[in-house]
This record gives sequence, C-alpha cells and structure tokens, in this order.
Amino acid sequence: MIIILLGPPGSGKGTQALPVTEKLKLPHVSTGDIFRANLNQGTPLGLEVKKYMDAGALVPDDLVVRLVAGRLSEPDAKNGVLLDGFPRTAAQAEALSAFLAESSRQVARCLSLEVSDATILTRLSGRRICRNCGLGYHLSFSPPPADGRCGRCGGEIYQRDDDREETIKNRLDVYHRQTSPLIHWYGDHGLLKAVDGEGQVEEITRRIFAALED
Ligand code: AP5
Repeated sequence: MIIILLGPPGSGKGTQALPVTEKLKLPHVSTGDIFRANLNQGTPLGLEVKKYMDAGALVPDDLVVRLVAGRLSEPDAKNGVLLDGFPRTAAQAEALSAFLAESSRQVARCLSLEVSDATILTRLSGRRICRNCGLGYHLSFSPPPADGRCGRCGGEIYQRDDDREETIKNRLDVYHRQTSPLIHWYGDHGLLKAVDGEGQVEEITRRIFAALED
C-alpha cells in the first residue's frame, strides 16, 4: 500500500504520519527528514541539498527521484510506505508511477491536507524540534519543557533554519506554483482524497482514517 501525504509546508504531514504509520504498520518515508539527517551528519548529499533547503526551494527532481527509488527498493518497503513530502512536482509524480509500475505496484491513495496560508505561518513560526529524536513541539500548541531539552529524550530543541518567516513565505510560494498542481494530477487519476487539515490533531487523524477507509 503506497500512500502519499500531500500538503503545503506545515500542513501537518509529519504530525499525521506518526499515527498513520503506527496503525497501518508502514514505514514513514519523508524526503525532508532524509535530507535533514544528511545535513546534520555533513554527508555529501547533505552539502548538496543545503542551499536549496535554506532558500525554501525544491531539491532537483533527478536527485530526489533517485533517493526515493532507492528507499522504495529496500525490503521493508515491499508491502508499502507512507510518502511524506514526495512527490512535489509533476515530474516526480510521473517518475514515481513509472518506477512503481516496474514492480507491478501503484499508488493506493493520495491524501491532500488542506490548510490556509495564515494557519501555516502560525504553525511554522512556532515550531520547535528535538535535534536528537525529532519530536515536534509548538511554542503555543505543545510547548517544549522550560529547560529547552526534549521531554522524551533530553535532546536539544531547535528551530529549523527554513522556519524563519521569509523562508516560510518562499516555501508556500513554491508549494502553490510547483506542488499544488498535483492535487489535480492525482484527482484525474482517481486517487485523491482531500482532508481538512485545520483543527485538533486527533480530529484530523480521524478524518484521515475515514478517508483511507472510504
Ligand atoms: P519537508 O521537511 O518535507 O518540509 P515541508 O513540506 O515544508 O513540511 P514541514 O515538515 O515543514 O511541515 P509538515 O507538513 O510536516 O508539518 P508538521 O507536522 O511538522 O521539506 C523541507 C525541504 O526539503 C523542502 O523545502 C525542500 O527544499 C526539500 N525537499 C523535501 N522533499 C522534497 C521533494 N520531494 N522535492 C524537492 N525538494 C524536497 O507541523 C508543523 C507544525 O505545526 C508543528 O509545530 C506541529 O506541531 C504543528 N501542528 C501540526 N498539526 C497541527 C494542528 N492540527 N494544530 C496545531 N498545530 C499543529
């Protein structure tokens, strides 16, 4: 089962990926997380993608497609994955379909999380993350402990470089120009389910499960 979580930056893809992958026992494949892990480790891939991420621009398609194809070829992806943040362009969507067809697989569902730009600005400017375990916090909605260390693992809590206001605006612009056309692309292929991404996290999770059962 290949499920795609599509949505603007800050729409809650990472947040919702947790309950979905837990319940469906699917690996969570987030291209953004893979890039950040490489950045933190200072790998050649990390150095290559840094300039795009810092600017809120998309990493070139060929590089992303190779990375995801490699991940989907791993044994734990045999029965499916939850794709978070991929595909993000028509070229990536087409490459994904072609790659899956080689092994008689296909996308089962594309869930499009719908959230207003105003909500996104609030969510992303307040987001904080544990550098060690990746747990997400929000200054207003789920504040991190007062000592600045992660409540789960004690790791350092930080703000992503691309969560500064100017970069958020650029990421949103990139989303509207390059990624949102995929809503129609998957709609035309009969695979799209729109999910209202505003409201309480648990309520949105329920909407996602309802969309998957539908
Ligand atoms: P990526 O890491 O994928 O970033 P993104 O798509 O911009 O998404 P985010 O991780 O910012 O947000 P999210 O939707 O996961 O929301 P979250 O759950 O964290 O990509 C980063 C960069 O990598 C890209 O800009 C690009 O450069 C590159 N890249 C990645 N994939 C690529 C690709 N395929 N092609 C090319 N380049 C690629 O939630 C956000 C905040 O809101 C959190 O604080 C959370 O706690 C809070 N929150 C979530 N839900 C709620 C709620 N219901 N109510 C209140 N607060 C909430």
